[in-house]
Order: sequence, then structure tokens, then C-alpha cells
Amino acid sequence: MSTVISSCNWVSVCHVDEVPIQGSRVVQHRSAPDIAVFKAVDGHVFALVDRCPHRGGPLSSGLIHGHSVTCPLHSWNIDLESGQALAPDEGCARKVPVKIEDDMVHLDLGGL
Ligand code: FES
Repeated sequence: MSTVISSCNWVSVCHVDEVPIQGSRVVQHRSAPDIAVFKAVDGHVFALVDRCPHRGGPLSSGLIHGHSVTCPLHSWNIDLESGQALAPDEGCARKVPVKIEDDMVHLDLGGL
């Protein structure tokens, strides 16, 4: 499922329950790459630009374990908090700031 948004800075994108546990939801923005919103098994919500730092694979289709996601293309592991690839791999997916208010997921799109 995806959400199309049309503004910048802090934007409400969906209800927190619309992001499945150990799953993701893709948010689309007119002038920015797709954003993957993830929810870990402990309920923490993270957001990264939906592009693996290796060869651009869709991180939103990856397997979430703990606070990291495994890219579906070549199995790099990406830290959901920082976007950094975990050793021995190197690279960084762009992190998007997230906050939860009134059970809604808000993304800061000002930097995109
Ligand atoms: S594109 Fe993600 S590991 Fe290669």
C-alpha cells in the first residue's frame, strides 16, 4: 500500500496501525524518491529513502529483524535508525526523521 503526499517539512502520512509489524509502507512524494516507513517487532517506526545504498534495491521489500532490514536483492543489512549498511558492507541509505503524534506517523520531508 502507498500514500501520495504533496507538501514538505513535517507531514502526516498514515495511522501508525497502517504500518504492519515487521513490515513497511511506501510513501510517495512528488519531488522526492519513495520513502519506506518500517515498523519493528517492538513497535518502533523508522523511515528511509526506499533505495539500498548498494545498487538501489527496494528496502521496503526487505526482511526486518530487530532494528535492521535485509535488502531483497543482495542481502545487505541496513540499520533502520541510521540508514548505515552493517559491516562488512559500507554505504548509507538516507534517513528520514519520524515522529508519532496522536497515533499518526509524521515524516520530516524538509531535507528531501
Ligand atoms: S541492492 Fe541492496 S544489497 Fe544489493
